[in-house]
Amino acid sequence: MTEHSKIPLSGHDDAAHEAESQPQKQAPTGRTRGPGESLIERAAGRFDFNAIIARPGPLPVEPARKAPAPAALRVAATPEPAAPASVPPPFAAPLAAEQEPASPLAEPPFAAPIAFSDDHHPIDREHLREQGLIVPEGTVTALLEEFRIVKRQLLVQAADLRRQGAGAASQRILISSPHPGEGKTYCALNLALSIAAEKESEVLLVDADFAKPSILSALGLPGGPGLMDALMDETIDPAACVLGTDIPGLWIMPAGDATINDSEYLASSRTAEVLERLTENAPRRMVIFDSPPALAASPAAELAKYVGQTVVIVRADRTGQGALEDAISLLGACPNVQLLLNDAQFSPSGRRFGSYYGYKG
Ligand SMILES: Nc1ncnc2c1ncn2[C@@H]1O[C@H](COP(=O)(O)OP(=O)(O)OP(=O)(O)O)[C@@H](O)[C@H]1O
Ligand SMILES: [Mg+2]
Repeated sequence: MTEHSKIPLSGHDDAAHEAESQPQKQAPTGRTRGPGESLIERAAGRFDFNAIIARPGPLPVEPARKAPAPAALRVAATPEPAAPASVPPPFAAPLAAEQEPASPLAEPPFAAPIAFSDDHHPIDREHLREQGLIVPEGTVTALLEEFRIVKRQLLVQAADLRRQGAGAASQRILISSPHPGEGKTYCALNLALSIAAEKESEVLLVDADFAKPSILSALGLPGGPGLMDALMDETIDPAACVLGTDIPGLWIMPAGDATINDSEYLASSRTAEVLERLTENAPRRMVIFDSPPALAASPAAELAKYVGQTVVIVRADRTGQGALEDAISLLGACPNVQLLLNDAQFSPSGRRFGSYYGYKG
């Protein structure tokens, strides 16, 4: 598992990058990228990606077709003022900034989805802001825009997979990366927040980092039974473990009890049953799994067998190409693996926010 090279930053010499790494920095500079290129495409363009992932997956789908590059969504130049947090009913129309076109998943009419909890826990918007996460009802930010593009690409691919017969797997997305600290949880949260804002989709964010769960604390949610409990105990209904939030369309499934046998439980036949239950009668629901580092623990490799798409987070100038190749090979059970660039920057105020670097073509 040798790292051969680090991923360079585009358009940034060392001095510039060093300057950016200081805690008191300028605002995001809107890094250059090719016309129509998303973060996923830019990341993939950096590697001989086909050579890394050229193998068929187990799903009954065609070989991965490249999703069409999404056109950048237009947003108002003037940010909208943040609305006070409220407790809307579940699946109410999204508020404020994220009024978006219909999801590609929303095609046929659907039966009522499986019911989750009636409790809708309040999410502290300020806490989201402090962590550099997307704030529902907040202003349009570069971060929001970036995740809109990423989301659109994944939803289009999900719709393609469903049309190709991948079933519920088409609704599942695994977030992984080779090492700790590369931004899996950060990107999983932002992706979930972005999908929750879709008019005709909802999202269940599952914490599958059993040894080091962090979704509940990031969202300020109370602890409770979760995925591992449902896997270990067949009498537990997985749907009963899901927490509602006051963000319309956002559901959370905690990791549950830690066990040294998490890999064995995930490898058991119960996993398929549990995961099926989470999307029962709910074809508009996307399920996102936040996972532990692929090179440090096996849950990501196990979950890769059940998802239609895997997004591997690449932290610019930190993730090594060798490690990336090793991780992608461990995630080989998933037929569609895509890379997503991630890095951190600092604002003049010192408050951290998300930003991403592009590569030179
Ligand atoms: N683009 C970004 N902008 C700002 N902060 C970021 C960004 N990406 C990650 N971070 C921060 O970096 C830290 C590590 O990120 P995160 O916890 O998401 O990594 P991880 O891959 O989930 O790590 P682990 O494998 O240990 O769970 C967190 O404090 C997170 O908020
Ligand atoms: Mg994490």
